[in-house]
Amino acid sequence: MKAIILAGGSGERFWPLSTSKKPKQFLKIFSDKSLIRETFERLLFKLKSEDIFVVTAERYKEETLRELPELNEKNVLLEPVARNTAPACFLGTLVANDEEVVFVLPADHYIPNKEKFWKTVEKGIYAAENYNGLVTMGINPTRPETGYGYIEAGEELEENIMKVKSFREKPNMETALEYIESGNYYWNSGMFFWKKDIFLEEMRKYNEDIYNSMIELDPNNTEHLHRVYPTLRKISIDYALMEKSERVYTIKAEYEWSDVGNWVSVREMEGYSDNEKNVHLVDSKNVFVKTDKNVGVVGLENIIIIDTKNGLLVAKEDKINDIREIVSQLKKKG
Ligand code: GDD
Ligand code: MG
Repeated sequence: MKAIILAGGSGERFWPLSTSKKPKQFLKIFSDKSLIRETFERLLFKLKSEDIFVVTAERYKEETLRELPELNEKNVLLEPVARNTAPACFLGTLVANDEEVVFVLPADHYIPNKEKFWKTVEKGIYAAENYNGLVTMGINPTRPETGYGYIEAGEELEENIMKVKSFREKPNMETALEYIESGNYYWNSGMFFWKKDIFLEEMRKYNEDIYNSMIELDPNNTEHLHRVYPTLRKISIDYALMEKSERVYTIKAEYEWSDVGNWVSVREMEGYSDNEKNVHLVDSKNVFVKTDKNVGVVGLENIIIIDTKNGLLVAKEDKINDIREIVSQLKKKG
């Protein structure tokens, strides 16, 4: 098996911790290790480093190797320009042997329990080997989140392995609510298993342009990548394959998971700071603070306060996604 870590992301939603030089995968949010380091160690629990690959942007090469010094340079596959996850999955899958299983996963998710994670991963590998399809990991949904893909489960073929009836990437709020109420939907975790030959077959069927451009690519040939990559269509694997293929399966994820989308998801995991020693509240509640300084809050609720060397953020929880605006203002002001 080959594991492919996707690490192309930007980090706008974690200002002031993140900057364009330090996107989300390099942030140390939950421990003294970066998210990509945590992901890598989760894989090393059962895999050898030679079977682990990272697909990332050229500008993140050095930092990736600094974080993962066990990796051979040729295991870091470099994209000259970002073309979203379908091309990144293709590039990663090219390193596998014909019928070998590939496990694709994001660099920047939070999964605290390695044992439970691997229990589901082993089921995923088994499903990819035995059902010859594209295997997703389904998470039990807890709210009508519109930032995720939704998996409609069909027939249960074996314990916790189901055929997928339909896949819908990022539905609107009304549709997400319907899905949650119907009870038959899972969130897509963004991690996938497939055999190389099956993936290539499905890409050829539904994305012939990308298939034709990439099928002869040597994933370590910089000159070749520079020629081909700019010509590729930008599309995520969810739209390119999961919504289209009739061979999608899902396994129920049996571990705690968060995609760490923004500061509110960090707060959900860590809890409010209301009772902490350095946080002093007057007529306030639901305050999340990241700093060692003494912080006083008067007359406010549902507030996020993040203090780093790079800046100080004070935000209302329900406006947290607007911190992208700060990043673009900072860019304009140079
Ligand atoms: N190498 C590379 N190149 N990686 C990329 C690129 C790219 O062009 N674009 C995104 N990635 C990486 C991101 O860094 C992240 O680790 C992963 O691929 C997923 O991309 P996101 O942009 O974070 O996707 P999303 O969160 O909007 O949606 C996906 O994940 C959700 C769960 O977190 C989808 O798969 C959804 O269906 C899913 O629910
Ligand atoms: Mg994501």
